[in-house]
Amino acid sequence: MRFFHLLSYVFPLPRLCTALTAGGGRNLIFSLLSSVLTFHVINIRTDIEFVFFGGGFDTPCVLARSHRINFVNPKKPLYGHISSIDSTGTSMRLTWVSGDLEPQQVQYGDGNTLPSQVTTFTQDHMCSSSSPSPAKDFGWHDPGYIHSAVMTGLEPSSTFSYKYGSDSAGWSEQIQFRTPPAGGSDELRFIAYGDMGKAPRDASTEHFIPPGSLSVIDAIADEVDFNKVDSIFHIGDISYATGFYVEWDFFLQQISSVASRVSYMTAIGNHERDYEDSGSIYTFTDSGGECGIPYETYFPMPTLEKDKPWYSIEQGSVHFTVISTGHNWTQNSEQYEWMKNDMALVDRSKTPWLVFTGHRPMYSSGEGYLNVDDQFTKEVEPLLLENKVDLVLFGHVHNYERSCSVFQKECKAFPKKDESGIDVYDHSNYSAPMHAIIGMGGFSFDKFPYQVST
Ligand SMILES: [Fe+2]
Repeated sequence: MRFFHLLSYVFPLPRLCTALTAGGGRNLIFSLLSSVLTFHVINIRTDIEFVFFGGGFDTPCVLARSHRINFVNPKKPLYGHISSIDSTGTSMRLTWVSGDLEPQQVQYGDGNTLPSQVTTFTQDHMCSSSSPSPAKDFGWHDPGYIHSAVMTGLEPSSTFSYKYGSDSAGWSEQIQFRTPPAGGSDELRFIAYGDMGKAPRDASTEHFIPPGSLSVIDAIADEVDFNKVDSIFHIGDISYATGFYVEWDFFLQQISSVASRVSYMTAIGNHERDYEDSGSIYTFTDSGGECGIPYETYFPMPTLEKDKPWYSIEQGSVHFTVISTGHNWTQNSEQYEWMKNDMALVDRSKTPWLVFTGHRPMYSSGEGYLNVDDQFTKEVEPLLLENKVDLVLFGHVHNYERSCSVFQKECKAFPKKDESGIDVYDHSNYSAPMHAIIGMGGFSFDKFPYQVST
């Protein structure tokens, strides 16, 4: 299922564009004759206008602009995505976007109907700071209303269909989705990555374009088509909207080909949460002032409460402990105590695999404070060993890297090749967790240093 809405626009009569040079003179920049440009347009509920610029980013000037175009149905229910609310595989949350304030419905299974809970956010919810931010001051686009409903009474590892909307706002198409396996069952096939973002499907440009995000999501959609995926984990740096809110719509549309059909679980990253004076452990301005508000509204996870974005969930034979590396993880902090208790209580006879995941890594060849915070490793890593964590997944660094079984920067064991040449970590003789960096969801890869530190 791919949705392409292409809109061609013929720009009108030739126009001249002039701009002041630094010295105050006027230079002819560009002369437009006639051309046809084609755009990939998605319903963002508000009117749109095409503006054609010359002069580059340094001296932009308007060459031509279209008339305003409005969407036939700005209330259309769109961009539905599903997530697990617990480890049973029998209850799934559906979240979608509409310009409609009135509650809508999800119709699923054999004649079940549920009303939606409706929420939204405004600029006033965002972080404030002394300097202007995109989120609060100049990146605003009306998010419409975010609808959510929990479908219950499902069977795990089973296929159901649903549609969402209302008679007055319209309905989505009928969509088939598959519930994940219940925690404690035999097998789980999941895909995990970080740092995806979105890219335009036309020649337009915007800030933060991860060029690989389109091929990654299309490849995952192919896997979902062939029923090879039970669940997806996107571990931080989700849309990269960072205060330019319309880009959340772009991202939600981009992932809908997979997120509407299998469980799409998330962790929070620096580009959702970090901001100065906001309670984030890192005071960079990476969220553009969003401070997690749009993220938590679009992706409600089974967390304890708002702005405590850590949780655990079991699917198949795996227990996932999902943390926020942007919130306090120091010993005796609330999050530290939570993760300590969560991992200690895992029943390994039910879920023999323990996966620990968050956004910022403990190890990376590309070292430095921006990639690896040694204090985080020092405080939290002992819990991984104590609880015999099998696999640690982090993003943030835009490449793929896999460690030995490692603890306190020392390799405790190495994988062995099986008959197919695949590295196998033998945890029947456990020594330490294996860490993987999986921040390869969309950006051009970060380079490895020529000489890897050991
Ligand atoms: Fe990041």
